[in-house]
This record gives sequence, C-alpha cells and structure tokens, in this order.
Amino acid sequence: MTKESESAAPWWREAVIYQIYPRSFCDTNGDGIGDLNGIRQRLGYLEWLGVDALWVSPIFPSPMRDFGYDVSNYVGIDPIFGSLEDFARLISESHELGIRVVLDWVPNHTSSDHPWFLDARSSATSSHRDWYIWRDAEPDGSLPNNWIRAWSDESVWTFDELTSQHYLHMFLPSQPDLNWANPAVRDAMAATLRFWLDMGVDGFRMDVVHALGKDVTRDDPEELRMLGHTPLNDVAVTHEYLREIRRVLEEYSGDRVAVGEVYLLDPSRVATYFGRGDELHLSFNFQSIFTPWRASAWLETIRNAENALNPAGAWPTWVMSNHDNPRVASRLGGQDRVRAALVLLLTLRGTAFIYAGEELGLEDAHVAPDRAVDPGGRDGCRAPIPWSMGDHHGWEENAWLPFGDRASEFSVEAQERDATSTLHVARRLLALRRVSAPLRLGALSNLHVEGDVLIFDRVWEDDVVRVMVNFAKSPSPIDVSSGTPLFTTEELTDRTQLGANAALIVEL
Ligand code: NOJ
Repeated sequence: MTKESESAAPWWREAVIYQIYPRSFCDTNGDGIGDLNGIRQRLGYLEWLGVDALWVSPIFPSPMRDFGYDVSNYVGIDPIFGSLEDFARLISESHELGIRVVLDWVPNHTSSDHPWFLDARSSATSSHRDWYIWRDAEPDGSLPNNWIRAWSDESVWTFDELTSQHYLHMFLPSQPDLNWANPAVRDAMAATLRFWLDMGVDGFRMDVVHALGKDVTRDDPEELRMLGHTPLNDVAVTHEYLREIRRVLEEYSGDRVAVGEVYLLDPSRVATYFGRGDELHLSFNFQSIFTPWRASAWLETIRNAENALNPAGAWPTWVMSNHDNPRVASRLGGQDRVRAALVLLLTLRGTAFIYAGEELGLEDAHVAPDRAVDPGGRDGCRAPIPWSMGDHHGWEENAWLPFGDRASEFSVEAQERDATSTLHVARRLLALRRVSAPLRLGALSNLHVEGDVLIFDRVWEDDVVRVMVNFAKSPSPIDVSSGTPLFTTEELTDRTQLGANAALIVEL
C-alpha cells in the first residue's frame, strides 16, 4: 500500500527513465531508420518491462550531421521520424499506459542550417547576428581564445568569409553556439519549451546545459585543453539562465522535469546546478560511466555523489551507458557484470536511466570504417535494437548501422522466451523497485566494502533493504543469515557466499 509520505514525492524521484535513441529503436516504414511510430509500436514492450518514462533523443528537423543534436527547427518533427500528429499520438498512448515522455532539448547550439544562423551569417548587421557568438581575430591574427572543439584538436572558432569574423562552436562547425547573453535568444528558446509543454511532454533532458554561459576571454588551462572545452565550461551566469528555464517549467502543472546534461565530471560542481531548488531538478552524474569494475572504485563514486548532493538537498541520478559511450557489456564484459550493474543502477538512491538495449545486455557493434557515420566515433553503441531472431531482427535489410555480434541471441524475442535472460533479470528488478519504498525513496546508509563485496542499505521508515554486489571474479564470503532474499542475479546456493560478479538484495 502506498504510504502517504511516499506519494508526496514528485514522479521523477522514483522513476526509471528509459532512453530511446530513435534512429536505432524501431523502424516501421522500412527506411532503415527508427521512427516515432516504431516507439508507439513498442509501448507494450516498455510497459511489460516496467519503465516509468521515456527520454527520446532529438526528433526535431535536422541535417543530421550530429544525428539530431544539430537542430534546424526546434518546434517540428524531422520527417524521417514522422509528424507532429505521430508525436501527439505517442504522448497520449504513453500517458494512457502511465509512461511519461521527456524530450531532448538542445539549447547550447543550433544547426548551421537553422534560419537564425542563416540570417546571422548573412551580414554583420543582420537581425540575428547577435544570436550567435562572433569575434574578430586579434590584430596578430590569433584567435579569441585557445578552446578546442569536441572530437578533434581543432579550435572552437571558424572563420566565416562573408563577414570576416569567427563564430564559436563547441562541437562541429555545423553546430554554432547560441549567444545566451542575448535576451532575445532566451525568449525564443523559452518559447520552444512552451511549445512542447503545451503538447503535454513531461519534461526535458537538456543537452550540455552547463555550457550555456560563456566567458570567451578566459583561456583553458593548457594541460586540460585536449578534453575539448565543454567539460571545462562552468560560468556563474549559467545559473541565471537555468532559473529562467525552471520558471518556464513551473508555469505548468504536473511536475515537468528538467534533467541536465552537466558534463563536468566533478559531483561537487554538478551539485551547484540544482541552485536553491530553483535550477535543475536532476542532473546526470557521469562518474558512474567511468568507474572501473572494482568494489573500492564504486564505493568512492557512490560516496562522492552522496557527499556532493546531500548538502545541496539534491536528488541523485544513476546511469551506466548512453548513446555517447560504450555499452556496459562492451565496457565491463560479460552478462554477469551487466546484471550486477543493473542491480547497482536500480537500487542506488536516485533516479535511474536505462539506455535502450541495456535491459538486453547488448554489446556494441563493430562498425567497419566504410559504415562509420558519426563524427564523434560513437556508432558502436548506437547499433539498432534487435527485436527478433530472424535475418534482420525486425528491421528491413537496410538498417542504418550494423547490428552488434550475436544479435539473435541478444534479441528481445530470444530473451523474452528465456526466463533466465538478462531481459528477465531487468524486468524482475524493475518490478521489485516498483513495490519497494526503500529502493525507490529510502536513505542510503551503511555503505562499505568487505573484501570485494560492496554493501549498502536502503532505509525507509522501518523497512531496510540490503544490497550486496561481488565485484570479484570468484565467489566472496558474505553473511545473510538474518535477511530474506528478495532478488539474486544467480541462484543462491548457500547463505555464506556470493558468486563471481553476482548481486543479492535482501530484506532485513
Ligand atoms: C551531448 C550529446 O549527448 C551528444 O550526443 C551530442 O553530440 C553533444 N551533446 C552535442 O549536442
């Protein structure tokens, strides 16, 4: 039964949010690229799996040089994905199933094909000129700063011949950065939020949102420059912009959520983006993606997150992979580790993000150079979802990227049939989380390591649930003499040891 205090939490605190990379999810018109109707077609699967919300990576009109993270119209749907009507149907059908829909908003930069930029670059006096960041070279020809753009060792500044000035882009030259210091830009971007909020979306994942403010007069430290500028950007004025964005969301009822991609890697810096409860609701903490498979390393990652976020009154998030990083199976190796990682993801204190295909334990595809399409080298983790065991796994012959190895074995069809599959492990975990107030909302305590076993408790009122994960390649001793096992990734043969890479959840 839902206790009164439980139901007071906004939906996104308890939620498991499932990231869909729409090109790779499900294709219904046979062009080899997933579409909105494909997502609608698989809503039954997502309901069966037990996720609470979908985060859909960008679906807006785009020349697709960064596969949708280069938007040429913020208030439309790219025809490759469908139409606004398809999107309206997706929202209403998802809502009927109790599944919320979060869109991916890309406020830092537009496509160079966006009419705003076309106008901006057309003349130094055009009405949109100051919507982007233009600078002259120094008299000696040097660039305004030493920043390096993503995925390269090149400058963030590109010279535009027509007006003989440079414009700034932290990503591709075809992704010019908007000038958020200009109030007209902020108003126009707020209007794009309202457009989708009016359509009923439940919130936004906000792309590189820590980077909206810029101090172009500051050089990056020489030793860190090769990271690219994005992870170094962290300017005070961004917090003002975030407060404005938050106020737009608060014009609407229904706990619309702002999830920031704050790519700063230091949780204490990330914590500042919650403001005083008036900026982001949630932010990714990417440390988990870079934490090696060792109990001590996870202990530190969890401690860092708790230590940074608790004082800020912020709610944590956990993520194991996404469309920018290798999948768990390829990064950590083996389905036993994938399952144990799912246990961590779904039992740590915080909102959980599952990248589509992680519930299957998918591996990255090996993409031969002649099939590679992404300027950031991220094709492998974007391989299509294998729905069936047959020849093309539920796709036509022409899927836009190759499948990972063993796609039949990892397919939804094969795993649905096999009660011992990773898919069933994920589904059982989601079901357990759904009925367990300690796992959804409880405090995290008793965090420690015994040998290679990471242990923590989740505590809600009188209920205590203990989680144990063995990071070793061989069985490790544990003591569960007193608890009632709720879940294990493998059969528990005795109560004194936990198998290699196995995880166990016990009610105390
Ligand atoms: C972060 C997104 O996750 C990534 O896919 C994209 O390339 C960059 N931001 C630029 O928008």
